Amino acid sequence: MLHDAAGRLAGRVALVTGAGSGIGAATARHLARAGASVCAVDLDQEAADRIAAEVGGLAVRADVGEPAEVTAAFATCEERFGGVDVVHLNAGVVTGHGEMDTLPDDVYRRIMRVNVDGVVFGMRAAIPALNRRGGGAVVATASLAGIIPFAPDPIYALTKHAVVGFIRSVAPLVEAAGITVNAVNPGIVDTPMTAAIREPLVADDFPLLAAEEIADAVLDAATSGRTGECWVCQPGRDPEPYEFHDVPGPRTAGGVGRRPPGLDDGELSLD
Ligand SMILES: NC(=O)c1ccc[n+]([C@@H]2O[C@H](COP(=O)([O-])OP(=O)(O)OC[C@H]3O[C@@H](n4cnc5c(N)ncnc54)[C@H](O)[C@@H]3O)[C@@H](O)[C@H]2O)c1
Repeated sequence: MLHDAAGRLAGRVALVTGAGSGIGAATARHLARAGASVCAVDLDQEAADRIAAEVGGLAVRADVGEPAEVTAAFATCEERFGGVDVVHLNAGVVTGHGEMDTLPDDVYRRIMRVNVDGVVFGMRAAIPALNRRGGGAVVATASLAGIIPFAPDPIYALTKHAVVGFIRSVAPLVEAAGITVNAVNPGIVDTPMTAAIREPLVADDFPLLAAEEIADAVLDAATSGRTGECWVCQPGRDPEPYEFHDVPGPRTAGGVGRRPPGLDDGELSLD
């Protein structure tokens, strides 16, 4: 069920990457409905312009894999709107390549720079910007393929597992500053990214998510006050934080009951 967005981000500013299409476009619209001023960032200038015009926001052309362009996008947003409160690190691509022995170098490099570098550079720019506002929220679009194996595109799964580990690891570092850091982890969403596989899925009655459902999850995650969580989105269910299991702790002499510095309760079993 989609939640009412009205007023939930009144007076706030949101920056969305990959805002020109699919999930990013739906999020830009949803955050605008929630009252936020929206900065729509995309590699595709025309697409960014279109969404920004629709939501009365600001379009910025930037490649999330280029650190200087990411820094400039945040600076432009802060200059225009006076700050940033919610950041959706969403831009992403797939390889479309399942066979590892024939994976082209350029395809591998491209996905790593968008899906991994893009989230790292975005986080690096977001933290000081959110600190200047006294706190805020970062939500990254990972994927179910960041939690479970995804054999049709193992490199895509690699990048999304990286995002999950990164989000969960950064969250405790910025919690005291009032910054929450979460991921959304959708199943298959009906967007241009999945257009090529849509027809057989629909013919097989496989349920697809609508981009608006992920936008709803992004707003929920950003306003939940919770942090370090991965919000699984599946058709017919409300988004919910995934329950990660504890991993076994050391059993060697001197190791039982100890966890490495920096790990909180509940991440390593002490048995
Ligand atoms: N569609 C799905 O089934 C699905 C499922 C789970 C997760 N996701 C993730 O959701 C995110 C959005 O996917 P979507 O389905 O909306 O895809 P999409 O292809 O519809 O939109 C992606 C947008 O990102 C932009 N983009 C690509 N490279 C960029 C770069 N280097 N810098 C800036 N912008 C760039 C594109 O121009 C496009 O506007 C991605 O991270 C994707 O991995 C998608």
